[in-house]
Formats: sequence, structure tokens, C-alpha cells
Amino acid sequence: MADSSLPSPASTPSPTAQPSGGAVSVLDLAPVLPVVVVDDAEDAVPLARALVAGGLPAIEVTLRTAAAPEAIRAIGAAVPGAVVGAGTVLGPEHVDVAVDAGARFLVSPGWTDALLSAMRASGLPCLPGVSTASEVVALLERGVREMKFFPAQAAGGTAYLRSLYGPLPQVRFCPTGGIGPANAPEYLALPNVGCVGGSWMVPGDAVAARDWGRVERLAREAAALGDTVPSSTAPSSTATAVAPAVTPSGGTCR
Ligand code: 3PG
Repeated sequence: MADSSLPSPASTPSPTAQPSGGAVSVLDLAPVLPVVVVDDAEDAVPLARALVAGGLPAIEVTLRTAAAPEAIRAIGAAVPGAVVGAGTVLGPEHVDVAVDAGARFLVSPGWTDALLSAMRASGLPCLPGVSTASEVVALLERGVREMKFFPAQAAGGTAYLRSLYGPLPQVRFCPTGGIGPANAPEYLALPNVGCVGGSWMVPGDAVAARDWGRVERLAREAAALGDTVPSSTAPSSTATAVAPAVTPSGGTCR
């Protein structure tokens, strides 16, 4: 079983929903969680270094390519400031692949009981995906309080999340899908949003050109989006030289 008890962060995270023990929820590591598709594992380390240098320490590497496990492994070994997780986790076999590669957290676009059980058995923090109130309630029944909201824009966007907050204020989300610099601040201003996910800071043409300077600039702009929302709700980046501990808050996935 993977161990999620990792070193304490070197800087203070957002005051919102911080779990006990000095560990930090994935939702509180930075205002933006980059969603990365890596086609060539050789790109993984410079790409991750650029994201971390720009202020985005949490990185979701999607398990959509053959290179993804090696990319996760390489980032974990060579980029100490990164907290690398696995995304597009679709079943127990993906959980095994992610754990074997050294992923620090797990993200899925949706969930089943089999997937949730495997995520929990891994001991890693996880963000199972939801897009309806019923899915949120079903996860709450199972003790999960932190979730990915996907596909965010298509599923109702900020209006939907604002509506969920009334009856379900105990749940926090990472909305992902169709979010960019223009609409991210509106999401981040919601009390039930910890961070937003997105791929805009890793454009395909920048990766193809290995233009890591551009990725770093876009990451820096994304990290600064947390500064545009009220400080009481804004997640602030906890980028450090050493990767912070991450844990699910509220007993999620365990
Ligand atoms: C994904 O799973 O691909 C994420 O939702 C990223 O979506 P985006 O490309 O719209 O940011």
C-alpha cells in the first residue's frame, strides 16, 4: 500500500479546509492544477520544471499515453518541487499503474465503486470526478468530500457549482474542462472551489517546440490567478523547493 504520510510543507497553505497534521490537500497546493498529456517521456522533466518554476507544484499527468507512467516516474525522481499525480484514472488497473509509477495523488473524470475502492486501497489522496448532484451525494455517502467537477463548463460551470453550494457546502471541487485564464477567476471565487484544473498552460505547440520558457510564463500567469480573487477564498501556491505533503482532507478516499 502506498504511503501518503509525506514531509510537511515548508510554507503555509491556504487557510481553507486544511487537514490536521500539517499536510495539505491537493486542492490547496496551488490555484491551478495543470492537466498534462505527455507523448514523449523525455519531455516530462523539463515540462515539470517549467511548471514548478512558474509556481504550479501540483501536476496531473493523464494516463492517456504510453509515456505517462515513465513521465510520472521521471518527474518524481528529478523534480523535487513537484507533486505529481495521475489523471484519467479509469479503473483499478490504472490505480496499480499510477502507484507503481510513484504518483502522489489520483484524479478521475468519473467514478464507480470498483474504482473508488481501488483508489482508497492505494492510500493516496484522490479526486473522483462528478458532474451531477446525485453523484456528489453518492460520494458523500461514501465519505468523500473532495472531488473533480468534470466537464466543468459543459456540465453547468460556475452556476452549477454555486447551486450545489447551498445544499452541499461540505464538498469542495476542482473544476476541470473548458477552463482558461478568462473564466478561472470566476471559479476560484466560489467558496466550494479549491483549485481549477486545465491544460492551457501546456499548449501542444509549445511542447512540440520544447519551448519551456513559454510554459513557465503561462504557468506563472496561471499561478497568479489566485491573487485575483478574495483572499478568504483564494488558494495560494505552496510551491517549495521540496514537495509538500499531500493528503485528502475530510477523510476522502480513505
Ligand atoms: C482533461 O481531462 O482533459 C481536462 O479536463 C483538461 O481540460 P481542458 O483541456 O479543457 O483544460
